[in-house]
Amino acid sequence: MKLSGFQQWLKDTMGLDASTIGPTIVERAVQRRMAACGRADLGQYWQLLRDSALEQQELIEAVVVPETWFFRDNQAFAALARNYDPLWAATRPAQRLRLLSLPCSTGEEPYTMVMALQDAGFPLERLDVEAIDISERALSKARQGRYGSNSFRGRELEFRERHFEATAEGWQLPKSIRSRVNFSQGNVLDLGFLPGESLYDAIFCRNLLIYFDAQTQLRTVEVLRRLLRPDGLLFVGPSEASLLLSLNFVSAQFPMAFAFRKAPARAVDAPAATASVRAIAAPTQPRAAAPLRKPIAPLRPTPARPAAAAAASVDESLLDQAQTLADNGRLAEALAACRKYLQAHGPSARALYLSGLIDSASGREREAEQHFRKVLYLEPCHEEALMHLALLLETRGDAAGGRVLRTRAERCRGAAAVGRRP
Ligand SMILES: C[S@@+](CC[C@H](N)C(=O)[O-])C[C@H]1O[C@@H](n2cnc3c(N)ncnc32)[C@H](O)[C@@H]1O
Repeated sequence: MKLSGFQQWLKDTMGLDASTIGPTIVERAVQRRMAACGRADLGQYWQLLRDSALEQQELIEAVVVPETWFFRDNQAFAALARNYDPLWAATRPAQRLRLLSLPCSTGEEPYTMVMALQDAGFPLERLDVEAIDISERALSKARQGRYGSNSFRGRELEFRERHFEATAEGWQLPKSIRSRVNFSQGNVLDLGFLPGESLYDAIFCRNLLIYFDAQTQLRTVEVLRRLLRPDGLLFVGPSEASLLLSLNFVSAQFPMAFAFRKAPARAVDAPAATASVRAIAAPTQPRAAAPLRKPIAPLRPTPARPAAAAAASVDESLLDQAQTLADNGRLAEALAACRKYLQAHGPSARALYLSGLIDSASGREREAEQHFRKVLYLEPCHEEALMHLALLLETRGDAAGGRVLRTRAERCRGAAAVGRRP
């Protein structure tokens, strides 16, 4: 039995394409599980895996990437609250708002949906949030609703004081918010996944498709299409946006929210199943310059990392302004503000990354690539820049280049986990 057999099993079972997280992660996970079960070689462990559903779940737990935090890519939550506002509720007195967070990981995403809607005045008693993940371990943490500092990133944290209670064990969410979310275990690739379910008004499927190969991405998007109401919103992660455009979804025109709707039937040229997933454009958000009417919170594409935050001594207000402009769809002005900041302060990973996102949103892929490369020159382990660039290269047909960047991201993640530089 070879390691590749385990990689294939993970791909067939949960969709994980080992090359997206790096084969050494899978190798280490298998070795850890072998040691935990007292199996001396791969063959013995394979036998156990085949016969034991419990061990199958353990191996899955060992490879999942549960990375998440509150208000991650927060324009998505602003767009959700803007679309489903109190007026929406008032004009549909008999309708409940049904939302799905898939995958929900440790719960930060579905709880953020509830907080964003509550802040916007939506009647919470009319809200149902389903939250699903393959990881039992992540779900058991989610159900507790208690979080440490890693779940709060960036500098806009006033929501924590408003919604959480500080306890000796961490920040605790109240029952009024926890009770709106129903957590359950599920695998999006299971044939019977959410059968006959009433449709959802909005689905958040963020930062899952990046771990799948083209065929599995296609299969997953078809599941999401089946579960989404005809007028519903589908939110994906920043580096997954271009995939949706190639699969009969259209931008919902919420700047930087990475939100999509099903394409109207007349706009469909070819059936989704025939679309070539690898023929997708670089990870760009379509031109989405329509201004946001009432932004709830500014875009924070790059959460301040503790070390970087401590080192930042320059005045960040110009960059904050650039982010607000970008949030409001004023992309040209946002880019101009980034340039001004860079001229005044010299190279800055945050300014360059925001410039790359704006280029990406405006369809300027070459410029986006240059900006992301500059970010990596300054911060070699900037994960978002690594993932954006990997997808840019892959969609241009440079699979080897993409692989190099993904492997680098994996090394960085591993190094961060043990607290050293890669
Ligand atoms: C990086 S987290 C994303 C969490 C959240 N959506 C976000 O963007 O912050 C990825 C999650 O996907 C889950 N996952 C991986 N494969 C899955 C599958 N086949 N079905 C359901 N969940 C899966 C993992 O357990 C992990 O918690």
